[in-house]
Amino acid sequence: MSHFLSIEQLGANDIHRLLDSAARLKADRGRHAQPLAGQTWAMIFCKSSTRTRVSFEVGIRELGGFPMFLSKNDIQLGRGEPIKDTARVLGRMVHGAVIRTFAQQEVVDFAAFSGIPTINALTDDEHPCQILADLLTIREVLGGWEGRRIAFVGDGFSNMTRSWMWAAKRLGFELVVASPPSCQPPAEFMQALAAPNVTVTADPVAAVEGAAVINTDVWLSMGQEEQQEKELEFAGFEVNASLLSGAATGHIVLHCLPAYRGKEISDEVLEGHAATIFQQAENRLHAQKAVLVELAGGDAAPST
Ligand code: CP
Ligand code: NVA
Repeated sequence: MSHFLSIEQLGANDIHRLLDSAARLKADRGRHAQPLAGQTWAMIFCKSSTRTRVSFEVGIRELGGFPMFLSKNDIQLGRGEPIKDTARVLGRMVHGAVIRTFAQQEVVDFAAFSGIPTINALTDDEHPCQILADLLTIREVLGGWEGRRIAFVGDGFSNMTRSWMWAAKRLGFELVVASPPSCQPPAEFMQALAAPNVTVTADPVAAVEGAAVINTDVWLSMGQEEQQEKELEFAGFEVNASLLSGAATGHIVLHCLPAYRGKEISDEVLEGHAATIFQQAENRLHAQKAVLVELAGGDAAPST
């Protein structure tokens, strides 16, 4: 693996290997090797972030490296310098890059022009780091996803749903996406996905029926803040106690955060499932360390 740009580009073996490595790194925190020693990793962020920024900064440091945070507005990228020029400069100076931006093509171009390992820290198309953390959480809490229904209730064509749909394609679990008709994935995407185990419905109650995992995300992703009218489409899609009444016994609720209580999730459900949701947030650190270790060509063997 030279880069980590999408779930679409991973195989099932890649996902399992990264999750195994993440679990080891989590168990060995404070004792594992530091394969990033002597390295500087650039973190280019064109959108806001709490979890992703902090988990990458901490993770790079724990692996022995130095994280260099570069907000878009602090570098010439924010004044229009092309990504391919930024990439060719940074590629001669730093050892790897973590990028949060809008177009997927920008992380693809950065990877191609920089020649250094590049990680997608969220684009409009995918949020692969988050999905790794989510899968790690499901493995920890439920023991795995085999034979279980996973429901995603919310925007059916956001970065989160797209990454979840590719994860279902690669891993074979049942994924039901419940989304208002205007926010569902287009037919061309579903044809390209070609995954009979992924279905889309406009009925959130039907999607959650028997589900072991209920996942949601904001209705307006970053960059869509002005589209207030889009939120009106989501009446009836709040993940609340009533919606969860049909879920499987022992179900868990996931939310990548930040959460907007009273919109995509009720306060009662978020607080009731906070242990899992904040375990999910913590798992960003461990999952991303696994990606960093692999891209740095290191291993996660404990140092002591
Ligand atoms: N879930 C997630 O990516 O959070 P941040 O936007 O805070 O990084
Ligand atoms: N879909 C959300 C995810 C935030 C972590 C967004 O892109 O804003």
